[in-house]
This record gives sequence, C-alpha cells and structure tokens, in this order.
Amino acid sequence: MCGIIAYTGHQDARPVLLDGLRRLEYRGYDSAGIAVINRRRIRHFKSAGKLAVLEQQLPENLAGKVGIGHTRWATHGAPNDTNAHPHTDHSQRIAVVHNGIIENATALRAQLADAGIACSTETDTEVLAHLLAQHEGKLIDAVRSVLLRVQGTYGVAAIDQRSPDTLVVARNGSPVILGIGDGEMLAASDMSALTRYTRDIIHLDDGEVAELTPAGFSVTTLDAHPSNKQTTRLSGVLEDYDKGGYEHFLHREIHDQAEIVRRSISGRLDQRFSTAHLGGLNLAARELLDVKRIKILGCGSAYYAGMAGAQMIETLARLPSSAEPAAEFRYRNPIIDSETLYIVVSQSGETFDTLAALREIQRKGGFVLGIVNVVGSTIAREVDGGIYMHAGPEVSVASTKAYTSMLTVFSLLALMLGRLKDVSPQRGAALIKGMAELPQAIDATLLLENSIAAIANKIAPASSAFFLGRTDAFPVALEGAQKLKEVSYIHAEAYPASELKHGPLALITEQTPCIVILPDNELLTKSISSLEEIKARGAPVYTFTDSADSRIEKLSDDVIRIPAVEFLFKPLLSGICLQLLAYHTALILDRDIDQPRNLAKSVTVE
Ligand code: F6R
Repeated sequence: MCGIIAYTGHQDARPVLLDGLRRLEYRGYDSAGIAVINRRRIRHFKSAGKLAVLEQQLPENLAGKVGIGHTRWATHGAPNDTNAHPHTDHSQRIAVVHNGIIENATALRAQLADAGIACSTETDTEVLAHLLAQHEGKLIDAVRSVLLRVQGTYGVAAIDQRSPDTLVVARNGSPVILGIGDGEMLAASDMSALTRYTRDIIHLDDGEVAELTPAGFSVTTLDAHPSNKQTTRLSGVLEDYDKGGYEHFLHREIHDQAEIVRRSISGRLDQRFSTAHLGGLNLAARELLDVKRIKILGCGSAYYAGMAGAQMIETLARLPSSAEPAAEFRYRNPIIDSETLYIVVSQSGETFDTLAALREIQRKGGFVLGIVNVVGSTIAREVDGGIYMHAGPEVSVASTKAYTSMLTVFSLLALMLGRLKDVSPQRGAALIKGMAELPQAIDATLLLENSIAAIANKIAPASSAFFLGRTDAFPVALEGAQKLKEVSYIHAEAYPASELKHGPLALITEQTPCIVILPDNELLTKSISSLEEIKARGAPVYTFTDSADSRIEKLSDDVIRIPAVEFLFKPLLSGICLQLLAYHTALILDRDIDQPRNLAKSVTVE
C-alpha cells in the first residue's frame, strides 16, 4: 500500500528519500516519486513502475535539504506517470504526497473548477495541492484549513517553496510517524523508513498536524490546539533487514519460522502452573472466568489464523469461539456484549477494516484484545490489552512468519484459558512441552522442502487447485489456497473434504490437483474416504499428513509426512508445508514473489 517519507535537515534530501522509499517498497506499489525544494523551487519527478525507473530519471544536480517521497498503490486512477505522487498546484509552489482516500474529491474538484482551476490527473490527491495553493498564509495554516474541508482518510505530507525548510504532515486514518533527529526531522508512514536515521519517534493521532523544521517540531489538532506528544525511544537492536542470503524475502521468512516461534513463546511458558504467562492482557483471572464467548476479527491470513485460533480456544477452554472477517463484522451492526472477549489480529496493526472493527466494538462498550506484530502501531495503541507477536519485520507481501506467529500466540492463549477452565495440570504440562519442542519440529518440517518442491513442479502447470481439510485442518486449507493464489496466481479453492460431494466434486478432474491436509485424528478414516472420492475422478492427490496409515499412500500421488506433534500445533506445521508449496510453485512460474501483482502489504484503506 502507499508509502510516505519526508525529510528536512542538514543532509541532502534526495538520498534520504530514496532510501526511505526503498524501505517502503515491500508494502507493494505501482509508481513512485519525490519532490525537493532546490534553490527555492520545487522540482518533482515521478514514474510508473519500480523505484529503479524513477532513479534513472533523477538529474545529478538535485540538491535540496527538504523533500517528500511516495510509493503509490493505485486507488483513484490508473498506475501511470501522471497519477503518481507527488502532486503539485499549477504554479508548482506546493507539492503533496498522500496515503488514503479523499471521499469528497469529486465535490472538491467541482469547487476548484468553479474557481477556474482544472485538475490534470485522475487522482483524489491532486485537489489537495490546488486547495493548499489557494492560501496565502503559512503552510501549516493552509493544511489545517484544507483538511477541515476533506472527508475521508489521509496520511499527508506537504512542502511549500516559500518556506524552504518546512514540512507539514497530518494524519487521519492512515499512519504518520515523526522521526526526531539531531538537526533533522523526518516523517514516514512506516517506521521502517525512519529507523536508519533516528530511534526517537512520535506517532501522530487522527486529527493531528505537525510542522517540522530542522530545529524542531510542533503538533497541533486541526483546529490549532497544541497536542502534548511524548517521544518514544525505540529500544533493542534495530534490525537492518535483508534477504539473509535467500533469493526472496518470502523464502527467508519461511525459514525464519523456528526462530520466530522461539521468540513468540520466550518467557511465556509457566512451568510451575503448566500454563502460559501473557503480560499485557489487562484482565485478571477472575475477569477471564466471566468470559462466555470469544470473537476473533482480522482480514485475509490474519482472519484464517483467527479461525484456527478459535478452534484451539474452543477445544481447550470449552468456550464458544468464532472468527469473522473484520470488514464484514463491522458493517453488520454487530451485537456487542460484556461477556464476549473480542480479539483483533493484525501483523501490521494498521489494517483499516480491522481497526474500524476495533473502534466499533469499543464504541459499543466491548473489551478488545489485540494480537499484533508491529509495536506501537495504531491497533496496538488502541486495544484494551494485547499480546505482541514478536515476529520481527515481515517484508514479503504474502504473510508467512507473522501467520505462524499468530497461531503460536493463539496456542498460548488457548493454553492459558484452558488451564483456567478444562485443562488439567498434566495435560497443560504436556502442551507446554510440545510448545517448547515446536522450533525443532519446524526445523524438521523445513527439511521436507525438496519433496515439497517436487510436488510444486507437478502443480505448476495447473490452472486450478483444490485444498481440502476438515475441522482444524480447514483453516490450514484456506490459508494454503490463499498462499498459492497470492504468489503463483493459480486459482485455488479450499473446502472441508466433507463438502466435496455437495457441489465442488463437479470440478474435480485429471486437471485439478487436490492438496489434502490429513491430520492423524479421529476423522482420519472418514478423510481417507474423501481421498477415494477424489481418486475415483482421476485427480492428482498430494497429501500432507502425520499419519502412517498405509491406505494414504495407495490413494495419493505423493505423500509428505509431517513430524507428529500435539494436535494444537499440527495446523502450524502443515501451514509451513503449504507455504513452501506456494513458494516453489511461484518460483517455477517466475512470479514476482515478494511483491505479487495488485497486492499491498498493509491495507490502510477500506
Ligand atoms: C496474505 C496477507 C494478507 C494479510 C491481511 C491482513 O498473505 O498477507 O491477507 O494477512 O491483509 O493484514 P494484517 O495482518 O497486517 O492486518
């Protein structure tokens, strides 16, 4: 999704902006641009395609100590040079970059037309530049007054050649973070673009505007009341994240997962009481006992992780639990009650629909826990309590290690709730042991990569594939189909195997590979009957199982034997196998693996 970087200070802005844009690339984009104030004149350059195309256009002599940069993911208007940001007014006095959607852009464009100002792009953002240029006063005053006329969401950064050391940024529904340096100030939509320059950051809240100069900053509300902002100092080693010797971030992130799980459980296993210790919930055991239901909300893979989490909690804690896509939940006027514990799940902590669902629940008085990866993100700051995933940065657009760490956190939460209710100390101890051994089991699973790559070779020519799994294997099937779609562009659908004969069987032919997730559980024999149904239609069957049952071999074209672990962790290991399957299929098909077409890493618009 779109990214913003802005700089004012003692350095040349251009390399800082380009470095920032490079760090934002992972979010997904279709065009990029920068504007700097060079000898009291705004000069701006933008182009469709990758950053390298923009860099080739930049003249050698583009000096200037203040500037803004943007990576665009098209919402209004095609991804082309014209629609790329920054946008300027006709006199090129003002330049603006913007994330989000201006909902009343049509009305604002009409008002500009009445004043004789025509827009030359299809974007909603351009109106901002023209409206700002209508103001003669200070840029900060112009920004406040224009944004009061804007409906919609924005993270925005603007420069004005009449105040050549000043940046103005503002936020409403789309993140903006200030980076406080020594004699320099930065702003960005994502922390990753700032951490090379400073550890001191400030998150703007919705409705706030900041004016930045090399010497300092001030934050106010849209109606000019001062906001009292605290600087947060980022601690620990700031990771300079690269591909770690792998060809793609996705591959690295799949291989990082044993370590990620180790981090996610670190300090959270309570051997003494055979439970999980989760600081930050802001709920006492007595309050947790009053919880009668769990509702989990997220989008995409986070929603699928939530489905798996709901099953874990229901199984261990015997609490009715379900997951729902956040965007659907918030629009169906949901009934919120005080006996339900609401959980929002998000890697980025910025997904617009998940954030909107959180706010809707809180508005109605519900208590919301967050399972979030990005520390200090909007969702992390707004929830009533939460659990950080500690998955580190995830750069590949398709989620792998964050998804796995969501499952890990859900298994900790299920254990903790289970131990308050139905789970005995002995059973708790066995689950803790299983959890502590999980990183080794992941390493053993990753050793299956070559056999999985061989299956990828066989499914790569297909135009459609089915993923089948029952009960706790069903969310895994959904996520497996999602990964294959995202990175290989092969159409994939997931079904509970039991649903096949109620419709989808009509599509099963020799041309539709079926990927079956078959955990060794009480449904094994029934699932084997489904294998027979598929085989009878001639479809190639690739089975991922921890069962040694000899019938599976006879009915499958290939069998991947996953290490046997406690039932709670089976979805996690089979999920990793399906990530490898998607990766190798995409590799064979030569796809843009880390930045699949049309997708963005963090979906900050509705
Ligand atoms: C899929 C994927 C997306 C995200 C979804 C939610 O691989 O990455 O489906 O899971 O956009 O994102 P977060 O977790 O940041 O809220």
